[in-house]
Amino acid sequence: MGHKIGVIGGDGIGPEVLAEGLKVIAAAGVELDTVDYRLGGARYLDDGVVLPDEVLEEWRGLDALYLGAVGTPEVPPGLIERGLLLKMRFELDLYINQRPFVFEGDGDRGAHDFVVIRENTEGTYAGEGGFLRKNTPHEIATQGSVNTRHGVERCVRYAFELANGRPRKHLTLAHKTNVLTFAGDLWERTFHEVAAEYADVETAYNHVDAACIYFVQSPEQYDVIVTDNLFGDILTDLGGAVSGGIGFASSANLNPEGVSMFEPVHGSAPDIAGQNLANPTAAVLSGAMMLDHLGETAAADRIRKACEDTSVLVGSTTEVGDIIAGRL
Ligand code: IPM
Ligand code: MN
Repeated sequence: MGHKIGVIGGDGIGPEVLAEGLKVIAAAGVELDTVDYRLGGARYLDDGVVLPDEVLEEWRGLDALYLGAVGTPEVPPGLIERGLLLKMRFELDLYINQRPFVFEGDGDRGAHDFVVIRENTEGTYAGEGGFLRKNTPHEIATQGSVNTRHGVERCVRYAFELANGRPRKHLTLAHKTNVLTFAGDLWERTFHEVAAEYADVETAYNHVDAACIYFVQSPEQYDVIVTDNLFGDILTDLGGAVSGGIGFASSANLNPEGVSMFEPVHGSAPDIAGQNLANPTAAVLSGAMMLDHLGETAAADRIRKACEDTSVLVGSTTEVGDIIAGRL
């Protein structure tokens, strides 16, 4: 029997890229027992369903979840994001969002990779705040950032563990301690306290705005980066853009003690949906991260290898899937 996987294709290009991911996993010889869940903006428009509690309960019993992308322009912004994707992250306590970036290197620059560890259940995403006197000239909107010692520490600890297991053993905290003097202070203190337990890991600190410059100018300075939810969201789009394009950026939403979810960093791209145009590599590489998590590390390594030399991975969605599968 194969691993039990919940598959949520979602909206836009989501189902197209996931189909290629599943094709490649099969080509790598790993058997999955998939259960399909039709969820997302299109489903919501059909019958109003976003994410029933029974479905969440079912998911807790699976080995992993594999998600394409959710969201469609016909649905008000936030409804599917908060009601489905963020609900998944919060309810399943997927507190680590791990996003690796690979730089292939060219004439001027050697090959390199770094990993961003994004806190995935707190910060400005927690939904703290609200409106007062909405739709009046005196309207007030607040949206606070929630940072708990528990939430920050488990994320920072995960990042130190990861860095400690990598050859370079280097971890950078990215935040904005010069302005966010409360949240930043908690992150920085926690970071230094945990650092004391990892004598072999060299540490650094960057303000997140400066990190944006270094991502572009000198990404080789990074090994592992740990940051909060919103900074991590922004930095990882930039990470994708500077490391070959968002079409190659994969991610794992991890609950190290429970069920985890794997998805490309990119969104549903409604403008190119249904045209066999989307690059499926991000979904394929997210599938490889899922296989790592399932203990299928040899197959995961082979898939990553098959995704190397990205200049050859050109063509339609299905063609790129075929090229990768063919290399296996
Ligand atoms: C991501 C996405 C999500 C986020 C959106 C779709 C809610 O941009 O996974 O990076 O902001 O986390
Ligand atoms: Mn994002």
